[in-house]
Amino acid sequence: MFWFCRYQTNLDRCEEVPSMKIIHISDTHLVAAEEKLHGLDPGERLRQCFEDIMTHHTDADLCVLTGDLAEAGHTGAYVLLKQLMMLLPVRTFLLLGNHDHRQRFCDVFSNVPRDPHGFVQRSEVTSDGVLLFLDTNEPGTDEGVYCELRHAWLREQLAQYHDRPIYLFMHHPPFDVGLPDLDAMRLRDCEKFAQTLTGHNDIRHLFFGHVHRPINGRWRGIGFSAVHGTNHQVPLLLNKDPLNGAFAFCQEEPSYGIILIAKNMTTVHLQPFLNRQPIYYEDYK
Ligand SMILES: [Fe+2]
Repeated sequence: MFWFCRYQTNLDRCEEVPSMKIIHISDTHLVAAEEKLHGLDPGERLRQCFEDIMTHHTDADLCVLTGDLAEAGHTGAYVLLKQLMMLLPVRTFLLLGNHDHRQRFCDVFSNVPRDPHGFVQRSEVTSDGVLLFLDTNEPGTDEGVYCELRHAWLREQLAQYHDRPIYLFMHHPPFDVGLPDLDAMRLRDCEKFAQTLTGHNDIRHLFFGHVHRPINGRWRGIGFSAVHGTNHQVPLLLNKDPLNGAFAFCQEEPSYGIILIAKNMTTVHLQPFLNRQPIYYEDYK
């Protein structure tokens, strides 16, 4: 269990002591071992990410991968993910993205919790709130889907935990983020999704992937965060014409998120992991 160490200062004592540390990784886009994607090795990138977490965050309570686990939903990619996860001594939850294949994923991760309709979604009750993991994958489309079955599941969860803070994890953002290529494939039925959330008065934060960029903000009163992918990224092209030309990619340095949850506070740090610089110390008077 993670807890926050503090030293004595003249500042007022802050009572917001985090009780939970969650690692947020997204869009690993794994291919079979030995294959490359965008000229990079997604498996090696994820191994480096896990190695950084093992060096600095073995006290994390949970690690969440918010989808696009595999580039093309191939079995070999899920086998590789399973092998890499054996390196990580942190409990890990997996979500599906538009690049994933639900059945092939479930064939490899046969013990992964699924709801009664087969969606890879679940809830996790913690001391400072409830974590909800929503499956937005839909075969045949890159858009996220919030169908009647998932709508019913989310309503049920929010009703069951009506008096608890909620932290929601999913692959697709339920709104435009200002990146035209990605806004064209965000969550469908976003207004119905938003209306569902209004039935609960304490949705603390929304964490998603899909965008391959660090994006933070507030949507309808709810804080949100997204992180880079671990392999390739999406450039910040706010005026790109989504109907003109191919999808834009870039190779900015990848990073992962570190989420600290306290009773009345959520803090999200972003950590690049490929080129860690040496830490040095000087007296600060
Ligand atoms: Fe992705």
